[in-house]
Amino acid sequence: MTSKLAALERWVNEVAAQTRPAKIHWCDGSDAEYQALVQQMLQTGDLIELNQQTHPGCYLHRSNPSDVARVEHLTFVCTKHEEDAGPNNHWMAPAEAHAKIDALFDGCMQGRTMYVIPYCMGPIDSPLSRCGVEITDSPYVVANMRTMTRMGAAALARIEREGHFVKGLHSTGELDPERRFIMHFPEELTIKSYGSGYGGNALLGKKCHALRIASFQAQREGWLAEHMLIVGIENPQGQTHYIAAAFPSACGKTNLAMLIPPEGYRQNGWRVWTIGDDICWMRPGEDGRLYAINPEAGFFGVAPGTSASSNPNALTSISSDTIFTNVALTADNQPWWEGLPGTPVVDWQGRPYDPANGPAAHPNSRFTVRAKQCPTWSPKAEDAQGVPISAIVFGGRRPSLLPLVMEARDWAHGVLMGAAMGSETTAAATGAVGVLRRDSMAMKPFCGYHYGDYFAHWLSFDKPGAKLPKIFHVNWFRKGKDGKFLWPGFGENLRVLEWMIARVEGKARGAETPIGTLPATGELKLDGLDLPRETLAELLNLDASGWEMELHAIGEYLDSFGKRLPAQLRQEQQRVQQALHVP
Ligand code: GTP
Ligand code: MN
Ligand code: MN
Repeated sequence: MTSKLAALERWVNEVAAQTRPAKIHWCDGSDAEYQALVQQMLQTGDLIELNQQTHPGCYLHRSNPSDVARVEHLTFVCTKHEEDAGPNNHWMAPAEAHAKIDALFDGCMQGRTMYVIPYCMGPIDSPLSRCGVEITDSPYVVANMRTMTRMGAAALARIEREGHFVKGLHSTGELDPERRFIMHFPEELTIKSYGSGYGGNALLGKKCHALRIASFQAQREGWLAEHMLIVGIENPQGQTHYIAAAFPSACGKTNLAMLIPPEGYRQNGWRVWTIGDDICWMRPGEDGRLYAINPEAGFFGVAPGTSASSNPNALTSISSDTIFTNVALTADNQPWWEGLPGTPVVDWQGRPYDPANGPAAHPNSRFTVRAKQCPTWSPKAEDAQGVPISAIVFGGRRPSLLPLVMEARDWAHGVLMGAAMGSETTAAATGAVGVLRRDSMAMKPFCGYHYGDYFAHWLSFDKPGAKLPKIFHVNWFRKGKDGKFLWPGFGENLRVLEWMIARVEGKARGAETPIGTLPATGELKLDGLDLPRETLAELLNLDASGWEMELHAIGEYLDSFGKRLPAQLRQEQQRVQQALHVP
């Protein structure tokens, strides 16, 4: 251990003195290490071997049934001043939070191995990347972190060079919901998570570091850490536009990131490139454009609904070397979830499948797989400079009112569209499902500071010399009177992206309305799609009285952020409200 790593070594020793593990293992990220962990977990039952003929290198993990999703009511942002965490976060004073969670960590690793995981979020040589170290007593976390991040020796070398890193301490604990906390100390670049083994609570590089801590750092340093996919759309002329899109959890980021073009588009030479499916870090480049990297190296995707028709790229990716969490099993030991052909025999809790017990796979069951296994994985995802972003897209599950697509007239209007985002809740977090909740920029659970300051930070990117992406809002989830989705979605969403790109390139005129620019008649290419003309009209209609109510609700929502809400955003909301009144 060199002197440059002394701070890390000191912290590891402190944690060991507190948690009293039987052994300390420094992870090197090697194949041999991974294989040894897998063997160990097969013995302890943490992993179950799946059918190795059909799914080589694939394993199943069953979490505790009380530990299957993120727990927002137990997630805290612990800034010195309560104001700084904002009404969008649960807050606890740092001293109180440390005391509370340290009491749980005392002696919690006795008899267990403590793993030290150095990791890098982003390409190892990128100036946009950031490093962290997670200490955990969970081999399942180690295996998943190896897939999801650049983990091991190279990350440790970068930490040694830079001398700083985000500290994350995790213990599975007793999995008692009464003894479970996920605490963030952004001012100390520290995370402490106890009592959960679930992905978003336990893989600290992901939501805790790459979103909550990173968003806080990004505000101070002039960049953005967002809950966005990054996808490249290559047109038949070979030009690629990169698009970043923020949708709340379980609203289609992974699907859009791996989109398969409709038949006609494929024949014409359109291609889709996957850069990231969940998190995007962006900063202005020298040319004034925003450049983005995906800080992750893998996908932690929702399994149910992933099928040969909805997301064949994901299905191909997870046919080998994948860890499944809380899926069901078929008679011949293949992973199964709702949406796949075949029949479940064992449910996610390991019981014989009985429909009376609910779905066979947990609705938030997941797969963890290396991004490189995705057939559409882009080599640009490894580019240290990142990719230039042409368009930013916001969207959510809105059964009514919100049109299929609209474009903001400028950056401030786009920030309003993002701030006003709402969605029906899903199974990705505990709580009621199907309730409309505002989820600005899909960051409600992940913004590590006051939303008012966050909106101001977004607005601040609009300055002289900036060549900002256009901002759009989409809604794949509009429903008709029969309760069915009006838009076919999935691969067909490329038609909407094509219109956006035409707008970016100045090749589509669009139709201006008070709520934004919509596709003009005939601009959305629908050939080969069986979409009745009335359905398209419904998808793009503007219900003025509905929008007045919506703008009123947005105004009230914005006011809930008090003095820290930038006046410019409230003015923007009033501008749209007034525009709606003008006949
Ligand atoms: P996290 O990974 O939790 O952040 O969520 P995500 O945004 O990646 O969600 P994901 O892509 O896994 O969304 C899955 C759900 O969205 C499934 O229920 C899909 O059926 C549904 N979905 C995705 N794209 C579309 C679409 O274009 N239309 C419709 N109707 N449903 C879609
Ligand atoms: Mn997510
Ligand atoms: Mn996803």
